[in-house]
Amino acid sequence: MSVLRAFAANIPCFKPTDTINTVADAFLSPVYKNCLSVAVVNEQQQVVGMISRHQLNDIFLKKFGRDLFGERVVSDFMRRDVLAVDVDCSLSTAAAFISKHMVFPLSEDFVITDEGFYVGMAAVLHLLSAMEKQISQSSADLNRAYQQLSSSQAQLVQSEKMAALGQMVAGVAHEINTPLGYVNNNIEMVREFFAQMQFIVNAHEQLANTLLAPNTSDIDVAESLAALDDAKSDMDLTQWFMDLDTLFNDTFYGVEQISELVTGLKDFSRVDQAVTDNVSLNDCIDNALLIARNTLKYKVEVIKRLENIPKIRCTASQINQVLLNLFTNASQAIKDKGYLLIKTWSDASSVYVSVQDTGCGISPENLSRIFDPFFTTKPVGEGTGLGLSITFKIIQQHGGSVRVVSEVGKGSRFVIALPLNEVNDVYSAAA
Ligand SMILES: Nc1ncnc2c1ncn2[C@@H]1O[C@H](COP(=O)(O)OP(=O)(O)OP(=O)(O)O)[C@@H](O)[C@H]1O
Ligand SMILES: [Mg+2]
Repeated sequence: MSVLRAFAANIPCFKPTDTINTVADAFLSPVYKNCLSVAVVNEQQQVVGMISRHQLNDIFLKKFGRDLFGERVVSDFMRRDVLAVDVDCSLSTAAAFISKHMVFPLSEDFVITDEGFYVGMAAVLHLLSAMEKQISQSSADLNRAYQQLSSSQAQLVQSEKMAALGQMVAGVAHEINTPLGYVNNNIEMVREFFAQMQFIVNAHEQLANTLLAPNTSDIDVAESLAALDDAKSDMDLTQWFMDLDTLFNDTFYGVEQISELVTGLKDFSRVDQAVTDNVSLNDCIDNALLIARNTLKYKVEVIKRLENIPKIRCTASQINQVLLNLFTNASQAIKDKGYLLIKTWSDASSVYVSVQDTGCGISPENLSRIFDPFFTTKPVGEGTGLGLSITFKIIQQHGGSVRVVSEVGKGSRFVIALPLNEVNDVYSAAA
């Protein structure tokens, strides 16, 4: 149903042949009491003109106006450019048309037509006030929509924050897992050591008891000594004490890394607080290899070609993390036995580390995705797909870059470039 039809008051129209007097008298009747103008319609009911109360006043106010013009036909005076609006157009189109053509002071109503045929008259003021209502309604709707939008935007920001937080937590969990893994291993080895030490202590105790007993024979003493020898022969004590020292150092290093990560978690949003120092990449490589040695041993032969390179200002623990991720990936890519070639060099602007393996390689379609968070080709539980995305972020934060080339079946090579800075005159010793 057309909105405009509701505005069309059923006002009788006039013929072009009606006289001015007829129209003037009609305007006095209550039917036309609120009308500013009326329509003039031909025999086919097409609107051909409009005549207004204002025009009639003009005519009658002239000297002898009624006598001179009263019996003249309406068509002589009517306005032919009719202010007409089609009944099917929308309220806003009608309002736009009317406001474009209306003249102040307001002296006309407008005609509502149906394809040119008369439907009724409507007051400009009615239409405009309806329009105003509609506008205030739609502005209220807009306001509501705006409120809803703002609240869903806030929700979106919140859920994005939660997703970022989730990623970060998963990332930290991944990074904690690695040191936790070798701290665990080390503790396991220490436990093994103490289990064996227990045998030796027991054998010593046994020997002491034998020696102290009143009726001890030489045979008893020889047996206790043999038992002690047996217990000792199972382990190379000198080697064990040397290993223990390394085990404790590694364990402390791992615990330190975990506590640094936890501090990092607290200061996550404050990257500027990370401890930066003059760091030798060659030292970082050795550190990371030390940590990765459990993963690498037996199957990976490590070849180092480390040049004398300038120290750079960076966060050593993060660079260690990057290298550890690369070494772990290389080791995981090597199924039986293979090589890991690590090189460092520098030029006028940067220092470079290349980590190359003879592992399974990366297919071209995967190569573009390996830095995406959670992209992994490893079975559930073995890889979270965060190592390289963390690596990328760290190197980016250091103003560096990571490049990778890989061939399926042959291996992969990751090259990291880190920019030199004001401390580039300090040289680190090559390994
Ligand atoms: N040296 C490599 N050789 C072959 N494929 C690699 C190598 N490094 C990375 N990839 C591929 O890139 C993927 C993403 O590596 P990334 O280190 O980000 O995650 P991940 O090793 O799968 O899991 P996570 O490091 O979280 O334990 C790996 O699953 C693997 O398919
Ligand atoms: Mg990885």
